[in-house]
Amino acid sequence: MVETTYKHNRTPLIAGNWKMNLDHLQAIAFVQKLAWSLKDAGHSSSDVEAAIFPPFTDLRSVQTLVAADKLQLAYGAQDVSQHDSGAFTGEVSGAFLAQLDCTYVIIGHSERRTLHAESDEVVAAKTASAIKHGIVPIICVGETAEDLDKHGPSAVPVAQLKAALAGVTSASDIVVAYEPVWAIGSGQAATPEQAEAVCAALRAVLDETLGSDVASKTRILYGGSVKSTNIGGFMKQPNVDGALVGGASLDLAEFASIIRFQKHAF
Ligand code: PGA
Repeated sequence: MVETTYKHNRTPLIAGNWKMNLDHLQAIAFVQKLAWSLKDAGHSSSDVEAAIFPPFTDLRSVQTLVAADKLQLAYGAQDVSQHDSGAFTGEVSGAFLAQLDCTYVIIGHSERRTLHAESDEVVAAKTASAIKHGIVPIICVGETAEDLDKHGPSAVPVAQLKAALAGVTSASDIVVAYEPVWAIGSGQAATPEQAEAVCAALRAVLDETLGSDVASKTRILYGGSVKSTNIGGFMKQPNVDGALVGGASLDLAEFASIIRFQKHAF
């Protein structure tokens, strides 16, 4: 059993990135069932915070449900525009997400970086925009298999994090997610030791750039083929404070089991 004081009081965060799956009706059913299942199991969000990241079109439905039923579930968007408003067809502003009571927004996911050519500069601008609108950015960093061969495990994620923090001050609340690109959706997760080594290097970047207070309070997540059977190994690492879960977050029992890792993995 994990003590709540471990890891400098950082509350573990299990974040489910639905990607482009589940429409708003499916989202309502999923969120209701997930919330009931966690409640039945006596889960408390003060022990482990759970958050879901549905498509934009689901957010209003999720907001209404969470508010009406006072569900212990956080939510956020999978992306945000770097701009506040204007002629940016297809983009969604941080101001709009704030109106939907989004706590978090995922920024710089590798699929955005690769499929939508998001540069480190864009990731930094989006991070600053989220903070400006009072939304906590979950800044994603991670190396490809090729980067790993060429530069070793932490060089690319460290450089990506440094770039993303350009507009972040020590007063900002942020979350960092280390997601090796080779582990995403591949079924081949990093080992807990690999995740720990990079997460420790990322914490050192936070320490250097934003100071030790921020470094000790900021949650750093691991992402990439996380399942209920491997979450425990990651959560035992001193610098891993949670997980960003893709595929397994779409399976209700599996996602609930990942959120409840303290009950079966310690
Ligand atoms: P995965 O995805 O859990 O399906 O590997 C993780 C992610 O892309 O955030």
